[in-house]
This record gives sequence, C-alpha cells and structure tokens, in this order.
Amino acid sequence: MTVQDLDAKHIGRSDALVFFGATGDLAYKKIFPSLQAMVKRGHLDVPVIGVARSAWTLEQLRARARDSLETHGGLDPVAFEKLCGLLRYVDGDYADPATFQTIRTELGAAQRPAHYLAIPPALFGLVVDQLAKAGCAQGARVIIEKPFGTDLASARALNRTLLGSFDETTIFRIDHYLGKGPVHNMLFFRFANAFLEPIWNRNHVESVQITMAESFGVQGRGAFYDGTGAIRDVVQNHLFQVLTNLAMEPPVGTGGESIRDEKVKVLKAVPPLSARNLIRGQFRGYRKEPGVAPDSQVETFAALQLSIDSWRWQGVPFYIRAGKSLAVTCTEIVVRLRQPPTMYQGFDLKPNYCRLRISPDITFAVGANVIAAGQETVSATTEMLGTHHPRAGEMDAYERVLGDAMAGDPTLFAREDHVEEAWRIVDPVLKAKTPVYEYDPGTWGPKEVDQSVSPSGGWQTPVTGSNAL
Ligand code: BG6
Repeated sequence: MTVQDLDAKHIGRSDALVFFGATGDLAYKKIFPSLQAMVKRGHLDVPVIGVARSAWTLEQLRARARDSLETHGGLDPVAFEKLCGLLRYVDGDYADPATFQTIRTELGAAQRPAHYLAIPPALFGLVVDQLAKAGCAQGARVIIEKPFGTDLASARALNRTLLGSFDETTIFRIDHYLGKGPVHNMLFFRFANAFLEPIWNRNHVESVQITMAESFGVQGRGAFYDGTGAIRDVVQNHLFQVLTNLAMEPPVGTGGESIRDEKVKVLKAVPPLSARNLIRGQFRGYRKEPGVAPDSQVETFAALQLSIDSWRWQGVPFYIRAGKSLAVTCTEIVVRLRQPPTMYQGFDLKPNYCRLRISPDITFAVGANVIAAGQETVSATTEMLGTHHPRAGEMDAYERVLGDAMAGDPTLFAREDHVEEAWRIVDPVLKAKTPVYEYDPGTWGPKEVDQSVSPSGGWQTPVTGSNAL
C-alpha cells in the first residue's frame, strides 16, 4: 500500500460518535466543551452516544453536560441546545454484551461510527472485544485515550488487541499535545520558511532543551499519578511528539503518513535512555497527597539527556525536563547555537539561540548578543521576538483531535510504530529504580539536575508573567 493509498483510506466522515466514559472526569473537563465547540463551528451534526455504567438517564447526562460547560469554558445556549438534540445515552456494564447490543441499536444506519474510549486503560481490551462481537466495529474507527500502555510490552499487547478488531488506519491514538496549534504548527514554521533549515543541524546547533514546567501539583489525581509518574505521563508521549516535530526531516508531503513516517525515523535513531542520563525528582509534600503511597518512589519531575544518531543530529545533546510544582507553568524549547569565532575577546558572549514557546503564549524568539545599553565593552543578550496570545475562539486541542479523528485524518495521532519506539527508548529506565531526589515546590527540581543532566551553559529559565522582572 502506498502512502497515498493510506491517506485516501481515511476519507469519509464518521456518521456517529460513541463515547465511553460519558459520566467521567475527562468527559466533564474536556469532551463536552469540545463537542459544544464542534457544534458551534458546524463540525458536528451526527448522533453522539454517551456510554457509562452510572444508572443515569439521558436527562441526567444533559444536566452533566450543562454543568460541565458552565464550569469549563462557558455555555453557548444555541450550540448547547443543538448538542442536546444529538445526545443519546446508553447505560450498562462494559462486560455485558447487552450494553453493546443497545449501542448497535442506537447506531441505527450509521456506516462509519467513531468509538471514543475515554475510560481507564484496563478496560480498553474488554470494550474493543465487545464492540467487535456486537458488530459495532464494522466500518468503524476507534479513538483511544492515553496512556497507551505502561511500557513496551503492554503497549504491544494493547496494539495486538486493537489490531484484532480494527485496521491500523482506523485506530486513532490520542496525544492531545498534537492537537495544540503551536505543536502542530512547528512543522509549518520549520518547513514553510527558508531561514531555519541552514542552521537546523549538528553543524550549527550545540544543544536542544525542552522544558515542560507546571507550577501546580497532581490536582486530586494522586491515585492515577502515583501509578504513572512524569516519564509515562508526559515525556514518553507529549514531549517525544515535540521532540520529533523539532528534529524530523522534511516529509515528502503534508499527508498524515508522510509526516508520521518522518517522526518515527527520529525515534528510531534515538538509543535507549540510560540511567546515568536521567535524574528523577519528587516535590516535598507529594507523599501526603490523597491516593499517593506514603513511601512513593514515583517521580513528579524528570530531566533526561538523549541523542539522535542521525546524519542531521549526531553529537547534539537533546535535554528534556518536565515536572509538577515547579516555579512556573510553561512549555518551551531552546535550540542553542554554537559560538562563532570571535574577535571580541573579553566580552562575555553568550551563544545565540532560537526559542519556541508552546504555552502559555506562543513565541518564536532569537537570542542575540548586543552591546549593553550605555556601555561600550559589555555584552548583553537581547531577543528578536514574535509572540502570539491565543484568542477566544481558537480551536482547543481536544476539539481538534476529536474532529480530525471523526474526519479520518490520522496526522495528529500516534501511530503504532511511534508509540512502540517511544516506549523502547524509556523502557530501560522505567525498570531501573534510579534514585528519586526531593525538591521544594516552586523551584526548578532537584539540585542534582544541574550537576549531571544539564546542557553546557545550563538550563535556560523560562520567563513568564509570574516570574518576569
Ligand atoms: C496530561 C497529563 O496528559 O497533560 C497532565 O496527564 C498534564 O499531567 C497535562 O498536566 C498537560 O496538558 P495541558 O494541555 O494541560 O498543558
């Protein structure tokens, strides 16, 4: 099958959306707001069948949707009414075939339903099997929430289960980071401009750092988080997606498979992470969070160093750090360039850099040396800056990925080989039981990071509204 064939197979919008976990937290926080936004934009006009085992009625589900919208983003009376008209509800146990017979009946004449599994991963296999047995998988798509497995072996097992009932072209593995405009637009920025490409390689780049800092803790998700940790929660998925967008070769076209091919190639060139290139941290107070073990060894912070053994990147260290309860909330990339030969001996010249911020604002900046104001022999760094503040009405990540999955566009979803390569890279350290160093909330993680997993010249501290001078 050619890339074009694969891309062509996705044409055809889903004519029903079934979402499992309709009474759950994700539906409340993310799915109802996205569904309303899709309706408002004219992107959703098919039956939406919520499924859960809560002994609810359709009226209760509508009331929950209303509450969700009032709390998360605002209720639009016209769009909400329309959404209520599309909404159906099936109540039942996922282990009971009768639940799936009712879904089959609700689907009516739908030819290409999308089944969205917004449920705990332990239930994925069960639901997929039941869908197939009830004849609901025929012509259908399946949308799977993260985490996709907990390591390489479990991800492979899950892929086998899915592929038993669904074709890879109909499986949409959500990584909502890919639905964020600035993450996807990294490709446009890289490949629609001429000025970046000549320097975007080992000849000019000294190091790359990716920071995903969150100033909040586990926000009541202690039980989930304590079984997960920062590496599984955000590094193996969100940050590796950012890494591949940053490092990939130009794809042969804009088709989803062309892009996903190039991203996988990046991961294939990354050797497994070694324990000596990882520092794990845990914020003080984490063990007192509800749902967290009092002697937990789970990391709320990780800093790691990777390499990409490709023609473009060999020898360039890539650093990633992510953590909860850090100094600010910000996701940003700093690509530090090599020092030029200089005649300005005695000046404290800093390497030039490109800075791409994904959130809270969207920024592209180039850091340059200039003569400090009022000085003649002192250098200072200044930034040439382009910033964009997200405006009301811009598509949120969940709205984008749900809409794309229903339209059958695979570009913003993790392919089987990508997910498995990503697990391959972190698998050794997940089992290595490396030490977990404590850090104070509101800092930049454990001090051990600066001693052992730090770029030459150090980590660049993201400056946001909350820590700007
Ligand atoms: C989720 C993680 O996938 O992504 C959370 O489970 C994290 O721990 C979140 O906070 C970050 O995404 P966003 O879109 O809120 O920045």
